[in-house]
Amino acid sequence: MLNKQGFDLWANDYDKTVQISEENNAYPFAGYKEILNTIYNEVMSQKESKVLDIGLGTGVLASKLYDHGHQIDGIDFSSKMIEIAKGKMPDANLVEWDISNGLPSEVMGNKYDFIISTYTLHHLSYQDKVSFIKQLESILKENGKVLIGDISFETHAALDSCYEDNKDYWDEDEYYFVYEELALSLEADYNVVYKQISHCGGVFIITNK
Ligand SMILES: C[S@@+](CC[C@H](N)C(=O)[O-])C[C@H]1O[C@@H](n2cnc3c(N)ncnc32)[C@H](O)[C@@H]1O
Repeated sequence: MLNKQGFDLWANDYDKTVQISEENNAYPFAGYKEILNTIYNEVMSQKESKVLDIGLGTGVLASKLYDHGHQIDGIDFSSKMIEIAKGKMPDANLVEWDISNGLPSEVMGNKYDFIISTYTLHHLSYQDKVSFIKQLESILKENGKVLIGDISFETHAALDSCYEDNKDYWDEDEYYFVYEELALSLEADYNVVYKQISHCGGVFIITNK
């Protein structure tokens, strides 16, 4: 798994690497554009909302929302990624922070219309993902939405099948979302809707019950 330094080194080539995988409809980034677009359209359904992007990277998605007047806060542990994102969004509040330590003090006390995260939470173990998503409730407006786009599968069987097809490139250190598992862990307090977008990616829409 890449650490902070690994992402710093990847930052300048990140958008290009994603584009190649996306264009070849290949694991891990097949469906990337449509996944980001799905989240973009969801946020754009409101005017000038307050958005937190977790693991915003180079700001591909956040900067488009910023350009349309949404207020952007962002978190990323790579200073290089933050630097690139800041270049696109000079007025955004971007915090360098490792989410394996939970949420940074800079965002506590805020209330967001949307908390978005793309291709980042697979760096957390399954249990840490669930705890982290539950923490988001404290900074989400009552009718707010958590929108997660990532490498993900409807069922364990679908994940296993993707693994069989991509054994040679599979990243064993990443923990991919499985809808049936996540829905079970969150169903007591949250509504979880899932859209499978490509053979290895999809979007979760999580709202409070
Ligand atoms: C694959 S990139 C995704 C970037 C962007 N969201 C996108 O969709 O293109 C993952 C991002 O998450 C950040 N990241 C990974 N683990 C993190 C952690 N533990 N805390 C904060 N940021 C992290 C990386 O620095 C990187 O910018």
